[in-house]
Amino acid sequence: MASSKNGKGVALFSPYKMGKFNLSHRVVLAPMTRCRAIDGIPNQALVEYYSQRSTPGGFLISEGTLISPTAAGFPHCPGIYTKEQVGGWKKVVDAVHAKGGVIFCQLWHVGRASHRVYQPGGAAPISSTNKPISKRWRILMPDGSHAAYPAPRALARHEIPQIIQHYRSAAVNAIEAGFDGVEIHSAHGYLIDQFLKDGINDRIDEYGGSLSNRCRFLLQVVRSVATAIGADRVAVRISPAIDHLDASDSNPLALGLAVVENLNKLQAELHSQLTYLHVTQPRYVAYGQTEAGGHVSEEEATELVRELRRAYQGSFMSSGGFTRQLGMEAVAQGDADLVSYGRLFISNPDLVERFKVNAPLTRYIRKTFYTQDPVVGYTDYPFLGQESGATKALARLHKASLGGVYAAQTLVFLEAAVIYSGTKG
Ligand SMILES: Cc1cc2nc3c(=O)[nH]c(=O)nc-3n(C[C@H](O)[C@H](O)[C@H](O)COP(=O)(O)O)c2cc1C
Repeated sequence: MASSKNGKGVALFSPYKMGKFNLSHRVVLAPMTRCRAIDGIPNQALVEYYSQRSTPGGFLISEGTLISPTAAGFPHCPGIYTKEQVGGWKKVVDAVHAKGGVIFCQLWHVGRASHRVYQPGGAAPISSTNKPISKRWRILMPDGSHAAYPAPRALARHEIPQIIQHYRSAAVNAIEAGFDGVEIHSAHGYLIDQFLKDGINDRIDEYGGSLSNRCRFLLQVVRSVATAIGADRVAVRISPAIDHLDASDSNPLALGLAVVENLNKLQAELHSQLTYLHVTQPRYVAYGQTEAGGHVSEEEATELVRELRRAYQGSFMSSGGFTRQLGMEAVAQGDADLVSYGRLFISNPDLVERFKVNAPLTRYIRKTFYTQDPVVGYTDYPFLGQESGATKALARLHKASLGGVYAAQTLVFLEAAVIYSGTKG
């Protein structure tokens, strides 16, 4: 088994065999929506961005990638359901492979975290429920303004197999584009999480109620994707203790363990492990307190993730608020085999190198997380040794580009400002 549970002394920079993939270190690019794929098609800017963050034997996860036209809930996210999108991704993947990197495509459906403007024919977004996301959350609109989430439409039972089919064909397309595998986004309050969490899922059919019923949709997706492309190319991301977009659960530990047990069973049945399980640490959750009482303290959350790690039979990746030091400790203590880094990787394309030599890090500029400029705040962060002068010029550029619509976005950079807002800002 690839996992190194008692990995004392195993460093963040040591090689790791993640299933069939031989990685040279454990610093992973976390999946991050960046809204630069104009009209949903990966372009040269994405080629540059991912290529900059590739290292020989390094592992990257793509931004959330739409499995179908109903999956969208942000402006200009890439899809993987048309030939053109597959062609665009091919160039990105080729660039990563040329640098010796390994890359998975994160398969994403936002479910009710959408708006009619993003839906084909202006229809209501789909979900496990008819309940909208509460007014404390606002959606980023295509023009940079923000709006309330509209009421979704609960999927009828007979529609569910079609959505599962969309995940499956998106996975097949990802392999066609050259991706080494896929990560099924089942976290952060999006469609699959809308089935998992009892704070959202109010169904009375076999997809709601008991833990096994709430896990059913996820398991069916994983099984379908795994039988199409091989379990050893499939990973799952969950966030049982995170209540982003109202995704609270009355018992996050029981939910997390139920997912893990079901994945273990599926692996045994398929005679193959999945590539890894990716769990988001709610280390710096700003919105810890929920009306549903789903609050967990930082210690409880860390212990929860440890329990999942102990229970899961396979490679385990942690994400959320990790610094160099915390990542080194997590791997050395056996809490994780791999650590994914988000915000620090946005502003430090050579994060791996900087971590290795313990170099200072460039601060990220939150205002440009979700803007559409192909360069500013995207591919213009300096590499080590290029900082002099470049950083100041960068700051000026960012300032200049932040008039108009972008200024309004500072409040609700949903993923970043809320779930991931840490002490670092
Ligand atoms: C701008 C931005 C976009 C994100 N988009 C995604 C996404 O598409 N899919 C996902 O699973 N997580 C997404 N996340 C969460 C990251 O994968 C990561 O877990 C999070 O940033 C916490 O790690 P950090 O503290 O190292 O930034 C996003 C985070 C940020 C900052």
